[in-house]
Amino acid sequence: MKVFITGGAGFIGSHLADKLVEKNHKVVILDDLSGGTKKNISNQAVFVKIDCRDNKGMDKIFKKHKPEVVFHLACNAAENKAQFSPIDITSRNYDAFIKTLTPFIKYKGKRFIFTSSVAVYGSLQIPFRETDKPEPEDLYGITKLAAEKTLEVMSKVYGFEYVIVRPHNVYGPRQNMRDPYRNVVTIWMNAILSNKPYYIYGDGSQTRCFTFAEDVVRALVRCFNGKVSGRIFNIGSDKKYSLNSLARHFSQFTNKKASYLPERPQEVKFAIPEHKLAKKYLNYRDKTSLREGLRLTWEWCKKQGPQEAIYGEIEIKSKKLPKNWI
Ligand SMILES: NC(=O)c1ccc[n+]([C@@H]2O[C@H](COP(=O)([O-])OP(=O)(O)OC[C@H]3O[C@@H](n4cnc5c(N)ncnc54)[C@H](O)[C@@H]3O)[C@@H](O)[C@H]2O)c1
Repeated sequence: MKVFITGGAGFIGSHLADKLVEKNHKVVILDDLSGGTKKNISNQAVFVKIDCRDNKGMDKIFKKHKPEVVFHLACNAAENKAQFSPIDITSRNYDAFIKTLTPFIKYKGKRFIFTSSVAVYGSLQIPFRETDKPEPEDLYGITKLAAEKTLEVMSKVYGFEYVIVRPHNVYGPRQNMRDPYRNVVTIWMNAILSNKPYYIYGDGSQTRCFTFAEDVVRALVRCFNGKVSGRIFNIGSDKKYSLNSLARHFSQFTNKKASYLPERPQEVKFAIPEHKLAKKYLNYRDKTSLREGLRLTWEWCKKQGPQEAIYGEIEIKSKKLPKNWI
């Protein structure tokens, strides 16, 4: 099958591309390399360097390849930076989405698979159920929810199939070590390799369900399956860890303890999803323990060596900005 993966040079997208290539799908990766890298791209996939917001360029590519399935992952997923760089985040997350969906519909794509996030739940009562009514608390979650709602409406009008997946706290090899704003696991690993302190914002009681990339990708591939159209899935592990307990796991890599900074505005305290539908329809299973996943990620990070962080533009400079982001 001819498949487009936007954001396919990034972390999750590149693992997904490898899996689809392995299954003999014809994969075309669209990415502007703002967060991803060519190193991640399988040489059996076609790569097109493009910003999804370039609607004329996108029209041409869709016209040429006419993909049956689109996985849309292109995004700036820096959730905690979103409040400080609202223009870039909303434009990369919503504008890029609608400028991918429109040519998909125009050239008669069959199924659009959208990578949303559990950020849409905000601070709802835990565990977050796939059937809960979302209540996002940050701009990242708001843009994801806007895209979800747009898909519902446009699918009613044009009749294409769609699937919404909400992964959470994914980590593993190929995660961007240079991004100082997101991905706690590789931020900490890079800090340790660079002989710098590694930070927890707030008291470290915030709780997440960390999920190894390979486990997520297995579920994403199953989104091709016939009977999941119109469904929403939380994708990831059931096992919850506070950041303090994640830091304790890091004692296998360093004897340095984490340092603490003030909490960040609008950071959700407990992001604990349930995965009933993903288990039922996508056969989602956790195969990789946190200990094993961290070990594999650490081996990969060590191979990359310490990386210089890339600090993007901050659109609103405020006292609330974490001091290590300046
Ligand atoms: N990593 C997680 O824990 C997690 C959790 C929930 C949801 N997600 C979602 O999964 C998707 C992939 O996340 P990731 O962690 O692999 O991030 P990533 O930053 O590694 O990948 C995103 C890719 O999109 C590309 N990109 C960004 N804007 C673009 C644009 N306008 N045009 C073309 N390409 C563009 C970047 O270059 C990058 O390669 C995102 O949509 C994210 O919101 C990730």
